[in-house]
Amino acid sequence: MRRLIQILLVACAVAVARGTMWCSLEDANSVMDSFRQSRNGDNAIAASKGFAAYFAGMMQKYPETTALFTYVNGADVHSPEFRAHSLRVAIGIGICIFALHDPEVLTEITSHLAAQHAAVGGIKVAYFDFIRQLMRATFGQFVDNFNLDAWDNCFDPIIKAITARLD
Ligand code: HEM
Repeated sequence: MRRLIQILLVACAVAVARGTMWCSLEDANSVMDSFRQSRNGDNAIAASKGFAAYFAGMMQKYPETTALFTYVNGADVHSPEFRAHSLRVAIGIGICIFALHDPEVLTEITSHLAAQHAAVGGIKVAYFDFIRQLMRATFGQFVDNFNLDAWDNCFDPIIKAITARLD
């Protein structure tokens, strides 16, 4: 019994030292593979178009969100300014996903994104949830062997962390 307690204590110490994993290694690998495939050979134009379309859907459902994107020309989701914004978001999601093996780094990144989005003012969890659900429903189209459970296990905590300071 004492040996078991020792092992548990060591395991806890290692987990704390490394930071707790956001999802299992297997799930993280699957999600990284899916994201890699979806980028279609690092095609930045495709990524910016794809994410601009997600945001266009959000603005249709929540028209009040258009005004949040005034500085990046949210009134025209096909404009270079909005496409550049969409690319920044796509890259931001990639940075989170490719940090899944490094829990402490991912904590840093998501808390930075949480602070940035909270500082804008007026961004709601519901908007992120809309994008999350749209990605969940459509991502499989771009990816072979898309593992939805792995995606949920890894991506939901990321969105939860980024929205931690929003209403
Ligand atoms: C899905 C996950 C998301 C990620 C990873 C993400 C990431 C980012 C990044 C990297 C930036 C650029 C920050 C900079 O220029 O320094 C940004 C800006 C911004 N994001 Fe997000 N974003 C996400 C979702 C959303 C959603 C759902 C909204 C809903 C309203 C939103 C609203 C904004 C706004 C208003 C800005 C500032 C635009 C500007 O004026 O430059 N984001 N986001």
